[in-house]
Amino acid sequence: MLADTPSAYVESLESAQAQTVGQWRNRAVAMTAPGSVTFVAEEVPGALAFCGLMRVVVKQPQETNRPLQAMLISVYVAAPYRGTGLADELLRRSVAVAADELGAGILQLGVHEDNTRAAGFYARHGFHDTGRREVYPLDPSNKEIIMERELSPAGPEA
Ligand SMILES: CC(C)(COP(=O)(O)OP(=O)(O)OC[C@H]1O[C@@H](n2cnc3c(N)ncnc32)[C@H](O)[C@@H]1OP(=O)(O)O)[C@@H](O)C(=O)NCCC(=O)NCCS
Repeated sequence: MLADTPSAYVESLESAQAQTVGQWRNRAVAMTAPGSVTFVAEEVPGALAFCGLMRVVVKQPQETNRPLQAMLISVYVAAPYRGTGLADELLRRSVAVAADELGAGILQLGVHEDNTRAAGFYARHGFHDTGRREVYPLDPSNKEIIMERELSPAGPEA
């Protein structure tokens, strides 16, 4: 993920490679913590192959006077699976779980301003540009576009 599309994430490859086994174990535990759901897509053509990942987490801190907000993070589909519908399926499940399990009314995400493919993908799934921009942490001269969509419990999925 980090080597493939570095600007899609807020951690550098070097930083990830410097993590100890213990730190990775802690991250794995955090992935199953309450308020967080992780989808991993794998294929078994003889051996397990990693195909894609999406996570939804309750936003911390929350914006006040708004429905509960969740964040879509760690979005990745391996290159051979792009354009196949796998990303659509992962996002459909992420949207459903954010609404139905986390109880969120809004799903937000940050996408690098140059990542037109991802932004197009999100727009097709009903996310709109909020107009907000945040500094991209790995390069403060770049920006992330904040997109969001409204959720309704057990409503129509994207
Ligand atoms: C973002 C990602 C999950 C989208 O999945 P995908 O299978 O590629 O998505 P799709 O092909 O269904 O949709 C992408 C859209 O961009 C278009 N597109 C394809 N290549 C493109 C390119 N180089 N530049 C701009 N748009 C492009 C597609 O035609 C499609 O448009 P459409 O919805 O109007 O048909 C996947 O590309 C990915 O994992 N990218 C690398 C990691 C990443 O960028 N993550 C997002 C972090 S915010």
